[in-house]
Amino acid sequence: MEELVSLCKRRGFVFQSGEVYGGLQGVYDYGPLGVELKNNLKNSWWSSMIYERDDIEGLDASILSKPELFKYSGHEETFSDPLVDCRSCKSRWREDLVKDGKCLACGSTDLTDARAFNLMFKTPVGPVENEESFAYLRPETAQHIFTSFKNVQDSTSKQIPFGIAQIGKAFRNEINPRNFIFRLREFEQMELEYFVRPGEDEAALDYWREQRLSWWKKQGISSSSLEIYDVPPDELAHYSKRTIDIMYRFPHGLEELEGIANRTDFDLGSHTKNQKDLSLSANIKKNDESTMRLAVQDLDAKKWFVPYVIEPSAGVDRGFLAILNEAYTLEVLADGKERVVLKLRPHLSPIKAAVIPLKKNNEGLVALAKEIKSGLQSLGKGRVILENTGNIGKAYRRHDEVGTPLCITVDFDSLERDTVTLRDRDSMEQQTVAISDLKQTYSELLK
Ligand code: GAP
Repeated sequence: MEELVSLCKRRGFVFQSGEVYGGLQGVYDYGPLGVELKNNLKNSWWSSMIYERDDIEGLDASILSKPELFKYSGHEETFSDPLVDCRSCKSRWREDLVKDGKCLACGSTDLTDARAFNLMFKTPVGPVENEESFAYLRPETAQHIFTSFKNVQDSTSKQIPFGIAQIGKAFRNEINPRNFIFRLREFEQMELEYFVRPGEDEAALDYWREQRLSWWKKQGISSSSLEIYDVPPDELAHYSKRTIDIMYRFPHGLEELEGIANRTDFDLGSHTKNQKDLSLSANIKKNDESTMRLAVQDLDAKKWFVPYVIEPSAGVDRGFLAILNEAYTLEVLADGKERVVLKLRPHLSPIKAAVIPLKKNNEGLVALAKEIKSGLQSLGKGRVILENTGNIGKAYRRHDEVGTPLCITVDFDSLERDTVTLRDRDSMEQQTVAISDLKQTYSELLK
């Protein structure tokens, strides 16, 4: 973990937030390369959910949430951790972390009984601060998908089964944020709510488990680093009939990367039971059973039903950490020197190619390098940079460390023979390529 944290800071992937003021615990900033890798990861998820299928729609809902939303979702009552206080040193701990009844800071056994501590952040809304006018910062993106369900369905005419996908921030006042970006207070989720008919939920859960495992492998996570954990009934969240966790071997241990839950009709049912105005359609009479719930119509059987939902919910930050961990490689070269190389899948690499003029500030070389850079950049496959430092060896090392799959050197042959040298990150092999073939070679690599 230390090596990853150090690389992240040194090369501009992740920084402690508010570092100049001593940092804010459980909150991080993604730097110039981190934001690229994070966006690439999110784009890959979005593409697999929305563009490569025809049964899922996207949503970008608000973070500020009406308190009722998290009252009726069950979070006000149940989204809490049991905590104990140490009477000696005044520190506070999650009960499950305390071993042998001893304070983790000072070892005292003078601890209070456990008390429930709600994990949701509250913020005042409007000019007057009082108990009535506040909002929650959502602790999961999912709830807004449920409350927008009818709007999405009406505006897209989707029929069950269909899904709504969302990527966005979530906030939890974790008591002990830890392990770098693994457990945060502010983090991002990629969540799909996939609505099915009651009775089709169990098969859908199995289907999504396979889809999600296969997607993680396409992001470069090896099968041997993944495990499935069937969550036992006494550990299930209040809304879940069954949950399967995709576990990953993080540097600090085997932990949850993504949860896939069968939430049944818990959420849609609960929101509409408590919300008279969510009537579904003008042609349904008030107080009809269907107006009480977010039901959909079964056109064949001519009756209403509340869809069940399967929810694959992945953490962006945990995905980021897992992908870095998988890609991080320390190699000993033939001359005994070490090289750090980030063997990222090209679609995730923050920089796709670095164009390097052999001599810094040489007018002809730099002009050609700029032309090559903008030609490749215009293909729209991600960031291409001009590396005008004049030190090829250093540039190669830097780009190995940040996972750039391709370095393109522009030398004096380039001016005379219209060729460049391509260097492959993983094999370090170099080949001469005609500039006229470069776009095709580059596109092949990033396919
Ligand atoms: N909507 C369901 C839900 O939120 P969850 O298991 O609490 O379920 C889903 O969270 C995913 O969100 C987790 O698998 C994890 O990847 C990520 N996640 C949850 N809490 C997190 C935290 N405090 N810091 C970073 N990621 C977190």
